[in-house]
Amino acid sequence: MVFASKAHMLFDDGDHKCMVFSELVKGSGIQANQFLILDGKHGATIDPGGDLTYAPLTLEIGKHMPAQKLDYILASHQDPDIIASLGRWMMQTQAKVVVSKLWSRFLPHLGASYLNDLNGRKLEDRIIPVADKGGVIELGDSSILILPAHFLHSVGNLHFYDIKSKILFSGDMGASLVDASPGQAVEDFEAHIPSMRGFHERYMCSRKVCRLWADMVRELDVEMIVPQHGRPFKGKAMVNRFLDWISSLSCGTDLLGEENYMLTREHKLALRMQDSHATPEAPPSRLLKFPG
Ligand SMILES: [Fe+2]
Ligand SMILES: [Fe+2]
Repeated sequence: MVFASKAHMLFDDGDHKCMVFSELVKGSGIQANQFLILDGKHGATIDPGGDLTYAPLTLEIGKHMPAQKLDYILASHQDPDIIASLGRWMMQTQAKVVVSKLWSRFLPHLGASYLNDLNGRKLEDRIIPVADKGGVIELGDSSILILPAHFLHSVGNLHFYDIKSKILFSGDMGASLVDASPGQAVEDFEAHIPSMRGFHERYMCSRKVCRLWADMVRELDVEMIVPQHGRPFKGKAMVNRFLDWISSLSCGTDLLGEENYMLTREHKLALRMQDSHATPEAPPSRLLKFPG
């Protein structure tokens, strides 16, 4: 399976569609996938990204529905590659933003102050804060489960399971950093591990949380796990390979020790310089130099 065009259809039963855009990021930004779920005339985009993807994504959505009529923006968490273009979406569409309650009060910082009262609609009225246990939203005649994925990697993190297509949109969980063909489904799991391991070891909180999450996912009938970076896991066998791998991966706090929280030689040198140079005429703050 290769996504040759900017949009690739993950599921299509005529009325309900799920598609991924994996080639919209240009320049130095990390490769990222954006998603659109359509049910009849209703639409939701998942993790639409920042300014890098706003214009091309709205063009792509416009091929399927008027972008301004989008029902929802589903945000797995608060990162720049997830929702930094919030202000533009708020200006140009009628969409409501679904996000963890932990981030709902922070998101207004991404928009200009006039968005706080746009044509009589307050920004806060367009943000749906989701409780830690998750929830369900209706999209047309279909439903999307909002699942807890906290600390994977963000403290308030949500994943979205589309019931009709049986696709789990898993945010950064399952992300891979690949040089080419990010839309190509994983075929050789062992060969794919090196493109995931470093990211998951650094970004995911701990093996305990990964295992709890995987156990929850096993309760669902998942045909595909589609992360926000890199390649999807298609078919139950490959989905289970990923769940098994992530359940046993030492990561995050599992790998941290006091050596990760030590003052460096550079820190200590700067402190010594401050002590030796500080005089009433030359305040210490002016003498400090920052590396890089
Ligand atoms: Fe992230
Ligand atoms: Fe990401």
